Amino acid sequence: MSQQEMGDTKQVEPAIVGFLCNWCSYAGADLAGTSRLSYPTNLRVIRVMCSGRVDPGLMLEPFLRGADGVMVLGCHPADCHYLTGNYQAEQRVSCVRAVLEHLEIDSGRLYLDWVSASEGARFAELVMEFAHQVKRLGPIGDRESREGLSRPEFMRRVQVAQRVTEGEKFRWLVGRRKALLEEENVYKEQLSSRRFRDLMSFVVAEECLRAAIELLTEEDPVSCKEMAETLGVPAGKVLEHTAYLKKSGFLELHDVAGSSPRYVSRLSKGER
Ligand code: FES
Repeated sequence: MSQQEMGDTKQVEPAIVGFLCNWCSYAGADLAGTSRLSYPTNLRVIRVMCSGRVDPGLMLEPFLRGADGVMVLGCHPADCHYLTGNYQAEQRVSCVRAVLEHLEIDSGRLYLDWVSASEGARFAELVMEFAHQVKRLGPIGDRESREGLSRPEFMRRVQVAQRVTEGEKFRWLVGRRKALLEEENVYKEQLSSRRFRDLMSFVVAEECLRAAIELLTEEDPVSCKEMAETLGVPAGKVLEHTAYLKKSGFLELHDVAGSSPRYVSRLSKGER
């Protein structure tokens, strides 16, 4: 699937990428095809062995390549051939949606559902419904779309989201979600769904800001004041994260312009 292909399709219909698990959803799609059921042709299918194999960062990759919507389709609950893959996919999708929402990208662009090998008609129906939903949201990076963001700004936010989903804190929380919600810790405490949501929101907000600073400083040296203005956040907050990133070795002092220290990412020097 080339960007050119995706771009051409978008002129007419939204471009959609679907991650389909080999054992159920892909077979369901196959059945829809052999049964000659019609469904939108603007779906590009990526076959994976299990929906649980779709990494959070991978769910966002199609957006960076021009897709307007992403579907993850797996086996019905309790039918996963690897037992818990679809439950893991469910947890990941819900956490990735939280990141998208924080960045004011409509989380309806990322969809999860179940299709069995015998449900060709259901597959066709779901693709049709999702295509309509994405069409209502509008093309990504279009001022007229639901987000109202320019293409560069949309892409910047997806890049931020991808970095967050690849980060240690996010991955730890996603991976431990089930255990945190269902098991007691050593103090016999168990996290409620609400507390988990609050914790996830806090981590997402902090990590998004950190990732946004990293991205900004990869281009040119930037002062904290400039970062605060560009990102629309209080300077004190930027200062706090800049200090952390500097201490962790991600940022370094580039120069002092007037009285403002300017920072640059070590990444831009290929140091990571
Ligand atoms: S094998 Fe289909 S979701 Fe796991």
